[in-house]
Amino acid sequence: MKPFVKWAGGKRQILAKIKEYIEASKSFNNDDEGDKANDFTYIEPFLGGGAVFFDLHPQKAIINDLNSELMNAYSVIKSDSYKDLINLLAKYQQEYHSKLNNPEDEDGAENYYYKVRQYDRDDGWPSNKTDVERAARMIFLNRTCYNGLYRVNSKGQFNTPIGRYKNPLICDKDNLTEIHNYFSDKQNNICIMCGTYDKAIDKAERGDIIYADPPYDYEDDDGFTKYQMSGFTFEDFEKLKKSLDKAINRGATVIISNNATEKVINLFNQDPKYKVFYLFEKLSTLRSINSNGDGRQSGREVIILGMQNILPQANSMERIIKFAMLCDNELLKDKKQIMEKLNLTTERQVLYYLQALQYLRFINQLPEYTERITAIYDDENKIKEDIYNQLIENKLFSDVYNDAISKNKNVNIEYIVNEIEHMKINLAPATIRRRASTIKAWVEWMISYKGL
Ligand SMILES: C[S@@+](CC[C@H](N)C(=O)[O-])C[C@H]1O[C@@H](n2cnc3c(N)ncnc32)[C@H](O)[C@@H]1O
Repeated sequence: MKPFVKWAGGKRQILAKIKEYIEASKSFNNDDEGDKANDFTYIEPFLGGGAVFFDLHPQKAIINDLNSELMNAYSVIKSDSYKDLINLLAKYQQEYHSKLNNPEDEDGAENYYYKVRQYDRDDGWPSNKTDVERAARMIFLNRTCYNGLYRVNSKGQFNTPIGRYKNPLICDKDNLTEIHNYFSDKQNNICIMCGTYDKAIDKAERGDIIYADPPYDYEDDDGFTKYQMSGFTFEDFEKLKKSLDKAINRGATVIISNNATEKVINLFNQDPKYKVFYLFEKLSTLRSINSNGDGRQSGREVIILGMQNILPQANSMERIIKFAMLCDNELLKDKKQIMEKLNLTTERQVLYYLQALQYLRFINQLPEYTERITAIYDDENKIKEDIYNQLIENKLFSDVYNDAISKNKNVNIEYIVNEIEHMKINLAPATIRRRASTIKAWVEWMISYKGL
């Protein structure tokens, strides 16, 4: 199964990476508790052509886009009228090809294309056409227009010129039938929505996975955002983050892809206060269609993984301090060296200490922890000060710390267990206790560091 439309920002190239992240999200869901890994709803609020969605073809999904012609086509393909759609597309294909191949009528194909394009300028549009007619029009235009770029003017009218294809495939019967069978299979539950992203994101529950691929943020060299053809502004990004934060707080995992502008990264890189945690990986990719529709462009892309704050599980603060002082990008690549330098015995422990450095924002990037994000200092006190500041900014740690101070510096494990239970993370009771003991050790360190 593959997308039935070509779409700007299509995700075929970074598909493998995104799938890796989705697998990782499934395993977070599976942390220490029964098999929840495959019982999730996949939510894609900015669907477009749905390259990732079709590749994954999840059993339960909520798909959404603001583009009503596009989402109408999805609905028609799901419905029993999909056969009428195929028939109408076959008619378009036959008529269009005969015009293309008729040397007597040079402008025939062009006139035909613009006549169909014109429909959304007619009085009474869109209710003067049936859903099937609208769906067929949208697919026909997508297959024959310049670069497959779906673009509308300020009145919402489709305004991409004709493309120069010699033999465009307009009716891909096999693919449409396959998509229909998948959508309408009784075992599956595919909910099609059309509107702004937040309505779809609001449906996310514990364990669900959201893949958000919003329109790209463009930035000039001087850092100012260019005119957004998509109409998706930086304020929209800020609202999107709020809506994703809430979904994460309800226990969903989020994967976001966009181009790697400073502003987007800074927005999601804000300090994790309590439960929400974002990680970044930058990739170099080739955009298939850029914003101007004038060809190919290579760009830096970022994948952001958002999830509930992972609780640390590396008990020894002395080791963490040592690691934070030693840890450069070379050492990060060498697990054996890490084991030696920190005197650890298993790879799992290495992972815990890497997670601790990540939690404390010394290093970044999943899944390989390959980059240091703060400078390396040889001053141990500076490292300690950084750790303390990072922890006191974190609501969980500051709450536990303040509770301990008010109780004569006594760090209470039950209080921590209670706080973690309130976070409603999917963790088995024994795991909660283990994580609580790390938090206790870290808060004890905070108290001794401040010499209170
Ligand atoms: C980068 S494209 C997604 C491309 C998609 N991943 C693919 O494989 O084709 C962004 C999509 O977001 C949609 N969109 C723009 N603003 C939106 C909004 N406020 N709410 C929902 N969708 C929106 C656009 O119609 C467009 O299809």
